[in-house]
Amino acid sequence: MAEGAWWKTGVIYQIYPRSFSDANGDGVGDLRGIINRLDYIAALGIDAIWLSPIYPSPMADFGYDVSNYVDIDPVFGTLEDFDELLSQAHQRDIRIIIDLVLNHTSDEHPWFLESRSSRSNPKRDWFLWRDPAPDGGVPNNWTAFFGGSTWELDEGTGQFYLHLCHRKQPDLNWRNPEVRAAIYDVMRFWFDRGVDGFRIDALWLLIKDEDFANNPEPPSQHGEGFIDGYLRPGFEDHPEVQDIVSAMRMAADEYQERVLIGEIYLPLNRLVRYYGEDLAGIHLPFNFGLVTMAEWGASSIRRLVAAYEAALPEGAWPNWVLGNHDQPRIASRAGEAGSRVAQMLLLTLQGTPVCYFGDELGMRDGVISDERTVDPQAAAGRSRDGARTPMHWSPGPHAGFTTPDAVPWLPVDSSYRNINVEVQDVDPRSHLSLFRRLLRLRRDHPALHLGSQKVVDVGRDELLVFVRQRSEDRVLVILNFGGTAFDIDFLQVSEKARVLCSTLMDRHGDVDIGSLQLRSNEGLLLVLY
Ligand code: NOJ
Repeated sequence: MAEGAWWKTGVIYQIYPRSFSDANGDGVGDLRGIINRLDYIAALGIDAIWLSPIYPSPMADFGYDVSNYVDIDPVFGTLEDFDELLSQAHQRDIRIIIDLVLNHTSDEHPWFLESRSSRSNPKRDWFLWRDPAPDGGVPNNWTAFFGGSTWELDEGTGQFYLHLCHRKQPDLNWRNPEVRAAIYDVMRFWFDRGVDGFRIDALWLLIKDEDFANNPEPPSQHGEGFIDGYLRPGFEDHPEVQDIVSAMRMAADEYQERVLIGEIYLPLNRLVRYYGEDLAGIHLPFNFGLVTMAEWGASSIRRLVAAYEAALPEGAWPNWVLGNHDQPRIASRAGEAGSRVAQMLLLTLQGTPVCYFGDELGMRDGVISDERTVDPQAAAGRSRDGARTPMHWSPGPHAGFTTPDAVPWLPVDSSYRNINVEVQDVDPRSHLSLFRRLLRLRRDHPALHLGSQKVVDVGRDELLVFVRQRSEDRVLVILNFGGTAFDIDFLQVSEKARVLCSTLMDRHGDVDIGSLQLRSNEGLLLVLY
């Protein structure tokens, strides 16, 4: 793979289609809405869009329950709209990555309807069916991510089927070669249409323990890096998943320059195995370290960067994420000033950044009443609705997300009057202006999109400092996560430096590197010369 492959040097932007832009006024975002906003995305300086699922779906998990892998749900548009999105994005040099939800289908997918129709149906073995326990109860103690047992009784055939998420999301049997072949064909269908890659959902969960043995009780002390802080041997990170990883990579390599990104919530030593032997696996196994860390701050991030660098196999390309549609937004976790520092971190660390829509504005989690809560995971006490509220385009009705008389599928957060594209677009110090500036600098400086990375110890806990370098191009990144201002000497790294960007967007020109004045919660990018 070429050193400067697009998925290495580029920046990926995740769109949750329901919440981005609603063109037809039904309160739900759609493909036409995204097409209408492509100039905005191009002006951000984004290289690729990852779309959360747009397939036909009963929407029990808002598209992560797929009832047809080779079409578009009418709420989002049509295949023709998708083709137009693809072509209009490509005209702007923006790639399109789509979500591949392959651990489970919808219970309304024809494959499952056939499978449940009788014990002898040829597709029975495409899903995971078990007899009831001797007492008539569930086959084992596994609990679903959305709460309750992973088992649902099918009255018609008298067996239980497995669902790791919602009961309307039956798990496919990935030990069945026909299932594998069917999904690899789905990949080819979309690759042939021109998509540039897949974000693979729940990749580490595909293979289940063959004996369906009970999981041990959760430990009282939870670790970091996992979905809940501990590993369930019954269905997490089974070694056979690696065969699927290799096969998927082979399917991608039948085409030019396609990328596979894997959703994998595992500790680093397990996560990096998904790069595959000789890097013949997933191009970018998602590194969720910044999302799952217990305490946001310079010390934890320093530790994470060191551990990640140590764990990465030779030649493996890193990646970083601050948030997604399943996690609280960074501005809610780090605050307004902290969220600016976080953006500078994300966009300057070595590796591919994946940004979540709205974070460029500093959007916070919306506050959702019980009556308006729609996420099925709310049943397990972990609603994700707050991170999924509609994009803030303007200070107008519904923040410009939909037409004035429509009812947005989730309420628009009240902060939209100040935090929105229209207002921030013309404010040179806004969060949005910072985001665009960082992307521009990242593109202009080889040190930032391809360079090496060296963390510098400056003896202050609240600072994270690193140097990015590519040939003569050297950039110093200084991130103050602390609430105090102070002077600091950086003569150990260079004698001369000029400001490229401050997170407060108010500094330019040469600085005295022997006595640099750093403000509280300020990030600074300096070019060294
Ligand atoms: C991970 C997705 O990101 C999440 O939104 C979804 O609910 C589960 N996988 C199930 O598909």
